[in-house]
Amino acid sequence: MMEVFAIDGPTALSGEVVVRGAKNSVLKLMAATLLAPGRSTIANVPAIADVRIMCELLRRLGCEIDYDAEAGVVSIDVPERPGITADYQLVRLMRASISVLGPLVGRMHAAEVAVPGGDAIGSRGLDMHQKGLEQLGARVTLEHGYFVASAPGGLRGAEIGLAFPSVGATENLVMAAVLAEGETVVENAAREPEIVDICEMLVAMGARIDGIGTSRLVVRGVEALAPVSHRCVGDRIVAGTWAFAAAATGGDVTVRGVGRELLPNVVDKLEEAGAVLTEVPGTPNRDSATTEDPGFRVQGPERPRSIHVATLPFPGFPTDLQPFVIALNAVAEGVGLLTENLFEARWRFVNELSRLGARVSIDGNHALVTGVESLSGAEVEASDIRAGAGLVLGGLLAEGRTEVSGVDHIDRGYEDFVGKLTGLGAVIRRLEKDEPDFL
Ligand code: EPU
Repeated sequence: MMEVFAIDGPTALSGEVVVRGAKNSVLKLMAATLLAPGRSTIANVPAIADVRIMCELLRRLGCEIDYDAEAGVVSIDVPERPGITADYQLVRLMRASISVLGPLVGRMHAAEVAVPGGDAIGSRGLDMHQKGLEQLGARVTLEHGYFVASAPGGLRGAEIGLAFPSVGATENLVMAAVLAEGETVVENAAREPEIVDICEMLVAMGARIDGIGTSRLVVRGVEALAPVSHRCVGDRIVAGTWAFAAAATGGDVTVRGVGRELLPNVVDKLEEAGAVLTEVPGTPNRDSATTEDPGFRVQGPERPRSIHVATLPFPGFPTDLQPFVIALNAVAEGVGLLTENLFEARWRFVNELSRLGARVSIDGNHALVTGVESLSGAEVEASDIRAGAGLVLGGLLAEGRTEVSGVDHIDRGYEDFVGKLTGLGAVIRRLEKDEPDFL
């Protein structure tokens, strides 16, 4: 049996939706707890498959985990001497497993972490992770598909200039440097809100980091860190997904749990498309985001106008919202150009969206989309998290039934996607279907 999301469209989404913590922050926050023995607690944790994978990874390193998915709280008791091996079975399920590398080398002075392969969005190199750790004094070799890192005398601060502001490399290197001897400077560091979140948690654990939120991070190593309680930053990509869904379907959606300030370029582009965005005040709940949290409201136009977007590292337009731009442009008035600057292979989604009648031509890293009056429902397959959510948006825009397979991708990053969409008026169900049995 395989699961699909069956959507009967079209629907203009309307209502209120709560967004909890960011997948791309919480996984790293969980990894960072390895830096201090004792019990750390993270709140505002989304109930997604990747959190469960990270729980299992940490368990295998000897941590005791209490995870209350409904409350959105995970508490992690880190032993005095955690294990140092992250095996391929888990790393292949989730690339973010690589983020235990920095904390383990920093604290245990040794780590063996499986190297994730390429995936549906591109080759996804790790050279900057490796080179940066070497600059901090670790020996890093590739053995039987694993990064084997060791620094018997501990790490030493260094000047590291990243060739590109990589999110994962910045995080791994900062997590490694907080317990190194002396000062580390990371130039051309990534500035995503999730990096700010991790740095703030590390500071609360006792780390010394200057330049948080800038592209020059200065880390002064300390002897030891202490466990912490921390609330994860809201998921700007999930919030952006709802915002695009509202704008593209001509809906009216209030998003709680993420402020507009986390979506600088996105807000501009939604306004260019004809949506009206307004701030919604509120009071953040201590543990998990609720309907009381501040957020923003998106009122979509009757038919959106096409937009031109180039993806860039933060504060530029996020690559993870790329499929939603293409879906919006697919039904917009005019011709829109999308330039993808981060991942070379993020186009599998486009072939699937074309099955719904989208008119897209690809040339290198550009996608030219000519808007059509309407899409028509079809069976399509998700190849990654955002492609999956983008195809669901395609289904909301299309006449008739769309069935999206590969829903396990969507479950990795969107909590209760079907429930939330239903709450916004969508006609969507999770169905089990027979797999073809003639093979
Ligand atoms: N890169 C290298 N060498 C490196 C590191 C990166 O060549 O050592 C390249 C990558 O191949 C890629 C580009 O640099 O072309 C950007 O990679 P980056 O390291 O910034 O991304 P990441 O840490 O692997 C995170 C998110 C992605 C998100 C990107 C960009 C997590 C778990 N993943 O990936 O999120 O697209 O940053 O913002 O934090 C998703 O959530 O669906 C997702 C793919």
